[in-house]
Amino acid sequence: MPPTRTVPTPGTGVPPEAVTPLMRGIAVVRRLTDAGGALSLSDLERATGLARSTVDRVTGTLARMGYLRLDGRDVSLAPGLMALGNAYLAALRLPELLGRHAEALADELDESVSLAVSDGDGIRFIRQATRRRTMSLSFRIGDLLPAERTAPGALFAAGWSSVQWKRWAAHRAADPEGLGFPSLPPRDRPENKPLGRAVAGFEERVAQARERGWAVDDQLIEPGLIALAAPVHDPEGRVACAVSVVSHTSRHSAASLPDALLPRLRTAVEAMERALLRDSPAPAPSGPAGLAAWTGASKQQLGRGFVESLARGLTVLTAFGEGRGTLTLTAVAEATGLARATARRALITLEHLGYVASDAGTFRLTPQVLALGFPPLSRTTLSQIAAPHLAALAQRVHDSTSLAVLAGDDVQYTARVATGRIMSVNITIGTRFPAYATSMGRVLLAGLPPAERAARLARTELRPLTPRTLTGRPELAALLDRVHREGYALVDEELEEGLRSIAVPVRDRGGAVVAALNVAMHSSRRSVGECVTGLLPELRATAAGIEADLHVAGRFTRIPAV
Ligand code: PHB
Repeated sequence: MPPTRTVPTPGTGVPPEAVTPLMRGIAVVRRLTDAGGALSLSDLERATGLARSTVDRVTGTLARMGYLRLDGRDVSLAPGLMALGNAYLAALRLPELLGRHAEALADELDESVSLAVSDGDGIRFIRQATRRRTMSLSFRIGDLLPAERTAPGALFAAGWSSVQWKRWAAHRAADPEGLGFPSLPPRDRPENKPLGRAVAGFEERVAQARERGWAVDDQLIEPGLIALAAPVHDPEGRVACAVSVVSHTSRHSAASLPDALLPRLRTAVEAMERALLRDSPAPAPSGPAGLAAWTGASKQQLGRGFVESLARGLTVLTAFGEGRGTLTLTAVAEATGLARATARRALITLEHLGYVASDAGTFRLTPQVLALGFPPLSRTTLSQIAAPHLAALAQRVHDSTSLAVLAGDDVQYTARVATGRIMSVNITIGTRFPAYATSMGRVLLAGLPPAERAARLARTELRPLTPRTLTGRPELAALLDRVHREGYALVDEELEEGLRSIAVPVRDRGGAVVAALNVAMHSSRRSVGECVTGLLPELRATAAGIEADLHVAGRFTRIPAV
């Protein structure tokens, strides 16, 4: 069961200009995020305290925006929602500028390295370079942890004012179970009860951190998990983020951690601070214009079912981004195409809820924007992203459709929607076939860099699987060139008699082919010509849909195949 927390009721402290539908939409996204990404409509109704008709309209609007997926009675977060967290991370610049250094440190130490920023009285992760993990949990981008239970928290708290300390103490007293931190491990296990210890020793650890310039987490979150953190300063000397090396008591002790890792951590921090110093703010590219027109069109199509003020309000978050870290009201209105008054009310609402901060007439996003779906969505795999697209394609063409990746010299199925059985063997997730004799395999081979493709072709044994299997090496090399040029492969009874299939590539943000998508059928279903005229456009449209999701989801996180 999801933790049930009620939505703050408008009326107390809510500015009169606040946009209620925007607040409701955000409440829905937050409940889904805290529940791990999915809820039934009735659980959502209960968790938000909203009327069913309101939940229906809010979820319908968010689904239309590509932020949620509706599947019968179930609602889940959709990859498109990551556009909001992406706007924050792009505006922040730190993942882009420091990510490379975090990865290098993780490689060198063979330990996980993370970057975290201060968020209220907690820390929020903005980058994870995960290596070996012995512990059961691993945090994701967007996860929020209480400051007192982490190494970075002690560093951030070293700069807290007395007001911030008072706020921290009040929050902990009001929420001793830590329910406001859904990514903490379950607290019902006896070993996960060091909350009191963490709170009690915090001020002392903060004083030490201030003095030393580094901090240690000695199993404050989970038995075995230890971490060493150091601050990264921006050119103005403020703490921009903290970098942590996360280890385990089977490899180090909390006492030996500084001796073993501090010198290398310090070198990494210096490199990071140099990277921040060198960064000259990128010229602000123009924002995502014309969004107001888009929401208007959706309103016309969906009528009462589309809550335009919610769509417009969320659109305001996407006005921010790389080179657009702080914006004036005028710039937000221009980027979104919204009327100034509309943009202003949305900003007031978002600031009231803590997603936007303002300073002398300019606005910026806060780390809390990552609480809008990022942690559960950053666990998404390519096969999960593809699944609803495959289902829609199978329904349109009435044939089986699959996604596969290269595994050695084979293709390996990673997602599939089957309609009846067309092969002598039953294909399931994980099934492998020789790449050279399948449409998906040829698309994947054709997508390899030329040298790698040639090397692979040279070492693969080409056996005839049917009388039609192409086994000549030069012929296959020429065919792969053609597949590369034309962007699809059609294989006709070369893997199994009576089986015909056609495949297209799925590319990541950088243009690399990361998977292949196919439709397979009995050869009596369609002629080769009909496959090209009828199926190829459908396959291309489906691949484009998968790619659109993948490119949003993969901007700041690595998306594994399965
Ligand atoms: C983590 O990156 O998982 C991490 C970092 C610092 C901590 C605990 C965990 O104190």
